[in-house]
Amino acid sequence: MTTAKAHANIALIKYWGKQDEKLFLPFTSSLSLTLDQLYTITTVSRDPHLTEDVFVLNGIKQDESETIKLSKFVDFFRRNNEHVRIESVNSFATAAGLASSASGYAALAKALNHEFEWNYDDRHLSTITRKGSGSATRSLFGGFAVWQTGDDETSFGYPLMVDMDIVMVIGVVDDTKKSHSSRSMMKTTVEQSAYFKAWVQQSEIDFKDMMEAVHDRDLIKIGTIAERNAMMMHATLLANAVPYFYIQPKSLEIIQLVSSLREQGILAYYTMDAGPNVKIITDSKHQAMVVNALLSILDSENIIVTKPGPKAAIV
Ligand code: DP6
Repeated sequence: MTTAKAHANIALIKYWGKQDEKLFLPFTSSLSLTLDQLYTITTVSRDPHLTEDVFVLNGIKQDESETIKLSKFVDFFRRNNEHVRIESVNSFATAAGLASSASGYAALAKALNHEFEWNYDDRHLSTITRKGSGSATRSLFGGFAVWQTGDDETSFGYPLMVDMDIVMVIGVVDDTKKSHSSRSMMKTTVEQSAYFKAWVQQSEIDFKDMMEAVHDRDLIKIGTIAERNAMMMHATLLANAVPYFYIQPKSLEIIQLVSSLREQGILAYYTMDAGPNVKIITDSKHQAMVVNALLSILDSENIIVTKPGPKAAIV
């Protein structure tokens, strides 16, 4: 039996679109921050009496379709057709745009690697984790992490090892399971969006600029690029054959609040993923002011304040 813990990550340069659906090879490199407060703890146990895999999430046994997804992932590690019981607990709402698939697959990969005694290093493990969920590639690593484009062997994740004072304040606008998954919407966008080519071109430039900004520990530059990159991702969705937007009225209110905070000299930038929640980038000096302002829109239980988190580990 092995238990592993992995933290969710929020992308500052987004992964949005696969060049290869089967191998999970992204069009562009992405860069994220792993977060302290959002994590998944997963226990994998082998049981010779099991006739099929079992998946229990937050205490609830999952149905066949959810279990099959994980079984396919377990196949990358399984020896001798042994079945496993997977028990996962998230510290936060599942599938609500808070990167539960990232921490989920990273924790599972870490646990399976240990349980089946493969002992792959994190770089190699990330190329397998990628095939569970792309963004999970980055959740194996702590702090700022990159997932680079490449082929099956070279599209791996790695940590940037940059320590800095950065805080994310998450405004949970809606924590129910979303109707349009990032997986399906990014596929539709690749196939349909008139802006997809432009997204790929600009995102490559944003990635290089963001790498520089992180190495320079320049939070204003990090925030500025993150904001633009996120909105460009959302713009690709608006240009689909049937336009789609994850941004809800409350998300927009928060976005406007962030702009007005900045006008008052408070360091705050926002980013959004495939969901209505807004993540505000700030530092420890400004975090209380950001939270205070956000309380005019959200209740305190819908505000999560988090710092950079550690790499995935066996616990
Ligand atoms: C908007 O990693 O959930 O959060 O690879 O199909 O599992 P799959 O997609 P997923 O997509 C994440 C998209 C994003 C941006 C990001 O995290 O980089």
